[in-house]
Amino acid sequence: MAMRSDDQSVAQRVLDHIARGTTDAGAGVWREPVANYRSPERLAAELALLRRLPVPFCPSAALPQSGSYLAREAAGVPLLVVRGADGKVRAFRNACRHRGTQLASGAGCAKSFVCPYHAWTYNLDGGLRHVPHEEGFPGLDKATHGLVPVHAEEKLGLVFVSQEKSSAIEEQLPGIIRPDQPMFDTAERELEVNWKVFLEGFIEGYHIRFTHPESFYPYGFDNLNVLDFYGRSSRITYPFRRIRKLEKVAPEERKVEGLLTYVYHLFPNVLITILSRHTNVVVLEPLGPGRTRQITYTLANDPGAEALAEARRDKDFVGNTGALEDLAVVSSIQKSIGSGANEVFTFGEFEGCIVHFHRAMEAALRA
Ligand code: FES
Ligand SMILES: [Fe+2]
Repeated sequence: MAMRSDDQSVAQRVLDHIARGTTDAGAGVWREPVANYRSPERLAAELALLRRLPVPFCPSAALPQSGSYLAREAAGVPLLVVRGADGKVRAFRNACRHRGTQLASGAGCAKSFVCPYHAWTYNLDGGLRHVPHEEGFPGLDKATHGLVPVHAEEKLGLVFVSQEKSSAIEEQLPGIIRPDQPMFDTAERELEVNWKVFLEGFIEGYHIRFTHPESFYPYGFDNLNVLDFYGRSSRITYPFRRIRKLEKVAPEERKVEGLLTYVYHLFPNVLITILSRHTNVVVLEPLGPGRTRQITYTLANDPGAEALAEARRDKDFVGNTGALEDLAVVSSIQKSIGSGANEVFTFGEFEGCIVHFHRAMEAALRA
């Protein structure tokens, strides 16, 4: 895996924490009203925010060649994202300009999009190319009946989409995904849990020892993390115990591959987990106050057949037990949310990325 620019400083911070028995802490405690996990009005405001902001839609590697497309809902809106003949990624509302049928579903590669209803046909750049029996539409201006575009931009190895305006990506994030990392898997599932409850489980290491006593804790630490903040986004580093072997390595020669996991939270609803040999881009689509669709795109950390085979092996090996333990906890929280037991949830200083998220969310919703 190629080095990240700050891998060595992260390694040093981890070793310092191990030596001192400390961890990074966030700034302050946050009390989040439980109503914000239950309220349909609040969810509507969050969805409106997801349509307003530039949000990662998929990794660039999901669209490897001209004609590659991916159709999916984002914040409740069906979108079609496609790489054009010129190599540029464009996004459209996935709706035929005749009577609204969706033009594509899932992923694939196409030369054009033919509507399954009456076969109006669109170019990869969205232009309306062909209308069968066009004489039945006297006065139809094909030039103004192309697919309706939304703003798309490739950055950091991701395709960002902003549905309502072409707002710039503010966050100054370090390189997360390189262009040569191939995608080899996509998975989708629906969870009976609020999207924020699910998200919160990924971005704190305060629970590792108690929730994961046999899966993660034997290889990791109790409440020992490095936190970094990038605008509204963040990164939490989960070191493995074997990172201690770097104590004997000169700082400039330290490589962190296999010694830690990075979890980026890209505000508001995307997580990127960088494991030893593979990277997961996880998009959380809120479907209701207590329902979330989790879409996971998995990439190998390096190109080449051997790296891909190793990434596949690691992906199958990692995570099942630990992920089930996390799901059990968040499902349990979801059930208690309606019980009236808590008016607020209290996030402490060892849950700094969550506090950062709620602060950013409150500010974004107020803006
Ligand atoms: S709805 Fe698409 S061609 Fe009629
Ligand atoms: Fe966990």
